Amino acid sequence: MKLFIDTGNLKDIQALVPLGIIDGITTNPTLLSKEPGDYRDNLKKICQIVQGPTSAEVVETEAQAMIKQGRDLSKIDPWIVVKVPLTKDGIKACKALSSEGIKVNVTLCFSPAQALLAAKVGASYISPFVGRVDDISTPGMELVRDIVEIYGNYEFKTEILVASTRGPMHIVEAARMGADICTCPPAVIDALFNHPLTDVGLKKFLGDWDKAYGAAANR
Ligand code: E4P
Repeated sequence: MKLFIDTGNLKDIQALVPLGIIDGITTNPTLLSKEPGDYRDNLKKICQIVQGPTSAEVVETEAQAMIKQGRDLSKIDPWIVVKVPLTKDGIKACKALSSEGIKVNVTLCFSPAQALLAAKVGASYISPFVGRVDDISTPGMELVRDIVEIYGNYEFKTEILVASTRGPMHIVEAARMGADICTCPPAVIDALFNHPLTDVGLKKFLGDWDKAYGAAANR
């Protein structure tokens, strides 16, 4: 399963990409609005660092305007994936942009029916927002399970990009279900590394080594 970072922050991206586990980036208007500087320059820099799919969302709401803005965003860098919301206009724009060879991520997906529509118009990615579904006391991962089943029935090529993740269990469950990608805030990527037994085990190994050979030996 691929891992994307859900951020527009260059420092976070620069810190996490060297780990070798990051396959791409998702941004949204809220995330980009928090960053200083020109958003187009920021997106270009992100693409250069990550060298992987980088979602940039349209802020137009009418299909023709979305298509125009999507074409424009796609010119920033070959890695740009145009994000459109799951509305009628967004679905129309997805069909048009995808038929021009522009990759499209259909975002703000909250139901399996919506995911079916995105696949039918050739979306490269569908983004079910699991955390926001959990937030309204409904199991977000059930949405992912349903989409995996539906897409599997028809061999749709659209990749399932699990979004709005809040913690490591979203990522583990997504991997168990066979989702293609999880996009995670930087803090969730960090949390994936953590286990208290790793810390305890490492402390003991190094302590024993130091006792036998001295603190500076081979370190
Ligand atoms: C995905 O592409 C979105 O940017 C993101 O995952 C939204 O997450 P949130 O619900 O934490 O804002």
